[in-house]
Amino acid sequence: ASTGLAATPPMGWNSWNHFAGKVTDADVRAAADALVASGMRDAGYVYVNIDDTWEGERDAQGVIHTNSKFPDMKALADYVHSKGLKLGIYSSPGPKTCAGYEGSYGHEAQDAKSYADWGIDYLKYDKCSFGDVIRKEAGNDHAKAFAMEKAAYKKMHDALAATGRPIVFSLCQYGDNDVWEWGASVGGNLWRTTGDINDSYQRMAEIGFGQLVQARYAGPGHWNDPDMLEIGNGGMTEEEYRQHMTLWVMLAAPLLAGNDLSKMSKETLALLTNKDVIAVDQDAAGIQGVRAWAQGPLEVWRKPLSGGAMAVALFNRSAKPQSITFDLKTVFLDENAKLRNLWTGENVVISGDKYVTTIPGHGAVLLKGTPAKIPEVACSSGPWNEHLGLP
Ligand code: GLA
Repeated sequence: ASTGLAATPPMGWNSWNHFAGKVTDADVRAAADALVASGMRDAGYVYVNIDDTWEGERDAQGVIHTNSKFPDMKALADYVHSKGLKLGIYSSPGPKTCAGYEGSYGHEAQDAKSYADWGIDYLKYDKCSFGDVIRKEAGNDHAKAFAMEKAAYKKMHDALAATGRPIVFSLCQYGDNDVWEWGASVGGNLWRTTGDINDSYQRMAEIGFGQLVQARYAGPGHWNDPDMLEIGNGGMTEEEYRQHMTLWVMLAAPLLAGNDLSKMSKETLALLTNKDVIAVDQDAAGIQGVRAWAQGPLEVWRKPLSGGAMAVALFNRSAKPQSITFDLKTVFLDENAKLRNLWTGENVVISGDKYVTTIPGHGAVLLKGTPAKIPEVACSSGPWNEHLGLP
């Protein structure tokens, strides 16, 4: 399922953050329509991902069926594909999903075949009640518990691969057992690194600024997933959502919009579709950004880009505007650097090797600098890690 897929972090939409358990076939079609009409599809958002609560009963042969909210999954997939988009679905290695619906436990090959027959392109596989299975069978035997978890994910990966249909495989087990160290080895194209995000600045920032130990494990085909976007859901200010988007692109995170696309403000659309900002996330080198400097509420992050450029994010974690004097050397740039502000499109004027600016409360500035005085990016291990400040 994984080979050759997700060369850059997956982009699209997921139903959970806004619709949760109420999502219907009509909502998914409306999201697909909106992705096209808004220009989001053309900006790269191609996966339309149905989260939990589409599942119905199994028949006497054990074949999974949809519930009444999703009358015909094949027809829905055909519709989504006709728009130049891809369809994602959700299940669990446990007997029940997190919302209490039918999981894939004991039916992995059957379910993978159903997904492939319907035309599914992406599976989010959420641990949920498999945790109970592990506790029951492994008790306090951590080695056994860990082996069971890995085997459950590999089993579904292999079942997907056996269908012959390319299906992106998204692991959702909240970062347990340092999944970034083994997620790729069980066929994961991405893996959640944390528990759920919610539409609050505090939770978004707690997740976004806490993604350093796993940075070195990201790369083409296998990404860390700090969870879906909350941009446009109403719980944060525009500057907070800008910080959210800036963090996620610096993290080379999957960009899965989680808002109601059919009722989106201009500001939300602008935050989601800035091409230069998206290009930082989708850069071919696939290197996850890291913190380069911090002082009080201010942080500077760097993300090496292909072609000898550097993405640089300046963050203000306090609620009040803050002035920052940012030293270009902390991100491998110097007084010869050309710097552009990617959110505004303006060129930035530096004095010597310093850049002085003001960041709005809970805001972010995203810059692209060239040329960065760094070795050509070829790999995500070895000497390159020193430049990332990684162990
Ligand atoms: C878990 C996942 C969420 C969502 C819900 C659905 O909480 O982490 O992203 O999929 O389950 O029930």
